[in-house]
Amino acid sequence: MNPTASDVTPTPASRLRCINCGNVADHAEQDFRCPNCGDLFEVFYPRWDASRRAGASGPDSQSLKQLWRDRKTALAPADRSGVWRFRELLPALKPGYEPITLREGNTPLFDLPRCARSAGVDALQAKHQGMNPTASFKDTGMTTAASFARQENFHWVACASTGNTSASMAAYAARGGMRSLVLIPEGKISWGKLSQSLDYGAVTCQLRTDFDGCVRVLNDLVRRKPIYLLNSVNPYRLEGQKTAAIELLEQLSWDSPDHIIVPGGNLGNSSALGKALIEMKDLGLISRLPKLSVIQAEGANPFFRSIREHGGKQLIPTEADTLATAIRIGNPASWKKAQRVLEATQGTVEQVSEVEIAIAKAEIGSDGVGCEPASAVTLAGLKKLVRQGFVKKNEGIILVLTGHVLKDPEFTLKFHRGDLFTGSVHEKEAATMVDQQRAPFVLDANTESVIRVLDEFDAKKST
Ligand code: F0G
Repeated sequence: MNPTASDVTPTPASRLRCINCGNVADHAEQDFRCPNCGDLFEVFYPRWDASRRAGASGPDSQSLKQLWRDRKTALAPADRSGVWRFRELLPALKPGYEPITLREGNTPLFDLPRCARSAGVDALQAKHQGMNPTASFKDTGMTTAASFARQENFHWVACASTGNTSASMAAYAARGGMRSLVLIPEGKISWGKLSQSLDYGAVTCQLRTDFDGCVRVLNDLVRRKPIYLLNSVNPYRLEGQKTAAIELLEQLSWDSPDHIIVPGGNLGNSSALGKALIEMKDLGLISRLPKLSVIQAEGANPFFRSIREHGGKQLIPTEADTLATAIRIGNPASWKKAQRVLEATQGTVEQVSEVEIAIAKAEIGSDGVGCEPASAVTLAGLKKLVRQGFVKKNEGIILVLTGHVLKDPEFTLKFHRGDLFTGSVHEKEAATMVDQQRAPFVLDANTESVIRVLDEFDAKKST
């Protein structure tokens, strides 16, 4: 029989702590803001702090690693979830409550040899969080937060979204028997993501505003109606998202890479992954911290500017615009958490252009992996960090790909047909994309015309 959690260590009791004033609480208001100062909460585990004070390192790291490995062959739904498998590092549900799970997590780590060559590094790997059940990293956080919503008897859950949170929330609400309300910016999210939330049965409102405008409406709404907020200001979301880093380190035999590179939008994911790295180091699961770096699109770069222009002390919201619609965010909620992660891990922040994103996305596709535009900022950013000498050629590098290639097929088709930037200010720079473009051929239905295409392709390759 496999060992259970209680054979090793009882599940730690968790509490909430304000990241600004340190106020400790066991329950948050519906807006998940500290009632004293209005800042964000994070989950913490008092027992780990207590054992650290006593000179011990919290849960026994070797036993935990063994326990998590054993669960991979277990049959219980919580053990088969790539999130709840690591439940010793998560807030516990009350006895009698089961998690809402779609077997999230358990995502692959891929080698990207062509991308490595293009970035000028010896080797490169991608943790593909787009391989989750609703095809983005959001599922790892949604399984935890939606489970807490159900435990607290909410009938309605809601989020503002650029498309992936809403798709994920709608799926988990449906699985958990809850109603879901989605607020998305009208005309600014991909059809694939919008169609997901419709199919999973969400009440979907397209608001005539941007993502930041949707957040404003939602914050007001949750103060007036009994609705559970599932944006990443909800600290239970970040606890679930944290497990992607734990799973990654397990896949690397607990040997830390030198760099982990993630896209930055609302900055929940970088905060969550960083929290996991710091906790794993504190608990003795890993011996050194990887540098966690955040990449933003030039058109949606408030965090880049905060770090570069204000030393990370202040964030001035911007009007965001990028074709990587998932990260079209001008006022990121978790910027303070992300800033602390950069500081703790010695990571950095970069910004990349629209054309750099488009090329990087096609390159990730050419390794047979693929991702959505927002995920591709990681490769585009890596190239810059290599040129700057921040990342060395022979270092261990992981890109976190956050969404599946099928999330935004319109972007991909326009890219390959050559009309992604037609009539835009990027048109001239877009000439550099030609090497990656593979427009489809429309032919008469005869073998000769297909052979002509093949011959022309071979002739072009050999020149
Ligand atoms: N990549 C993808 C594919 C995303 O959907 C998002 C965020 C990010 C990166 C950025 O992550 O916000 O944690 O910094 N999407 C949110 C949404 C905002 O509503 O789906 P972040």
